[in-house]
Amino acid sequence: MRVHVAIIGGGPSGLLLGQLLLRHGITSVILERQTRQHVLGRIRAGVLESGTVKLLRQANASDRLDNEALIHNSVSLALENQVLEIPLKEFTNTAVTIYGQTELTHDLYDARDATEARTIFEVSDVTLHGLNEDEPYVTFRDDNSVCRVDCDFIAGCDGFHGISRKSIPSYHRQEFEKIYPFGWLGVLSKTPPVSDTLIYARSELGFALCSMRNANLSRYYIQCPLTDKAADWSDDAFWTELRRRLPQSIADSLISGPAIEKSIAPLRSFVTEPMQYGRLFLCGDAAHIVPPTGAKGVNTAVSDVYYLYLGLSQYYRDGEETGLEKYSERALARVWKAVRFSWWFTNLMHDFPDQSSFDRKLQQAELSFLLENRAAQAVLAQNYVGLPY
Ligand code: APR
Ligand code: PHB
Repeated sequence: MRVHVAIIGGGPSGLLLGQLLLRHGITSVILERQTRQHVLGRIRAGVLESGTVKLLRQANASDRLDNEALIHNSVSLALENQVLEIPLKEFTNTAVTIYGQTELTHDLYDARDATEARTIFEVSDVTLHGLNEDEPYVTFRDDNSVCRVDCDFIAGCDGFHGISRKSIPSYHRQEFEKIYPFGWLGVLSKTPPVSDTLIYARSELGFALCSMRNANLSRYYIQCPLTDKAADWSDDAFWTELRRRLPQSIADSLISGPAIEKSIAPLRSFVTEPMQYGRLFLCGDAAHIVPPTGAKGVNTAVSDVYYLYLGLSQYYRDGEETGLEKYSERALARVWKAVRFSWWFTNLMHDFPDQSSFDRKLQQAELSFLLENRAAQAVLAQNYVGLPY
C-alpha cells in the first residue's frame, strides 16, 4: 500500500488530519490499534474552541454539531459561596461550543466513511521505519499477517501511550512533566444540567465541575485522591459530595440520577520536544497532555493538526518545505500557552493536600484578585475560548 501520509491513531487528531488532507488530494491511511467501537466508547471533555469548530466544518464533519451543539457565551466559577460569571462573548467576542468528544469522533468517522480513505482497525506491532529517509514506511500486523505502508510522511496521532513519540530516539527528545496529586472522578447521568453554563467550583473540600452534553445528559466531576477507585464511590456518595462542594443554591437545584458512566482520570501536564523527527510529525496527545481543567486537550490537538495540515498542503502544492520545517516550533508555541493556562486553572481551583501555608495564601490571593479584577477575568476568558492559531 502507498499513500502520501500514514496516520498512526484513529482518535480526533488522526481523523481530523485525514479529512483535511483529503481536501487537497493528499491521501492517507489510518492505522488504529483498537476497534471503532472501543474508540467511540471513550468519554472526554466536550468544550470546543471556535477554531476547532471551524476546522470540523472544513473537514465536512460538522452537520450534527451545527444542529445539536450548545453555544455558551459564558462560564461560571463558584468560589466558596460566590458565583462569578465570566462573560466570554463580552470579553472576547467569541463563544465556546459544547459538544461531546464522542460525538465529534463519531462525526469524523462518518465523514471518513464517505470517502475512499482507508482506516484499518485492530492493528498491532506498528513500527515506523526510515524516519530520516526520503521514503519512510510503516509495518504492522493485521489479522496476523505483516503489512507495509509506503509513504512520504508519518503523522503520529496515537496518543500518550502510542508508539510514535517513542520512535524518536530518546537522545533527540526532551520531556517536561508535572503530575498532580489528585484525580477527577467523573459521572455521566441522564439528568438535566444544573445550570445553563458550565460551573467550575472550588471549595474547602476540593474541586467540582458541573458540565453537560445536552439538555438531558449531564457530566459532573469531583476532585478525588489518586488512591480512590470509581467502584468505591456509590452514586449516592458521589451526589452527596458534589452537593457539598457547590454553593447551596446550586446544590439545592441539582437533579441527580443513576450514573451511566463513572471513572477516575489522573491529571498530568506533559510536553515532548521537538514534535517532529525527520518524516515523523506528532499531533495531539502523542506530544502533550494537559489536565482537563481548561478543556484544552482536544482543542490543542486540533491546532497541531492545523499546523501540520498547512505544512503538508504547502509541500504538495508548491514543494515549499517551510511549514513542515517550522511545524514543531509553531505547534509548541501554542501548546505551551495551553499547558500554562491548564496548569494555572488547575492550581487555582483544586485543593492540594500537601500545600504549604505560603502557597495556600498565594492561591487565596489569586482567587481574590480574579474575583475583583475584570482584566484578570478577561485574561481567563481569552485563554478559555482559545488563543489564536
Ligand atoms: N498503533 C495504532 N494506534 C494506536 C497505537 C498504536 N501503537 N497506540 C495508540 N493508538 C490509538 C489509540 O487507540 C487511540 O484511538 O491512537 C489513538 C489516539 O487517540 P487519542 O488518545 O484520543 O489522542 P488524540 O487523537 O491526539 O486526541 C486528543 O482526545 O484523547 C483525547 O484527551 C484527549 O482531548 C484529547 C484528544
Ligand atoms: C466535560 O464536559 O467533560 C468537561 C468540560 C470542561 C472541562 C473538562 C471536562 O474543563
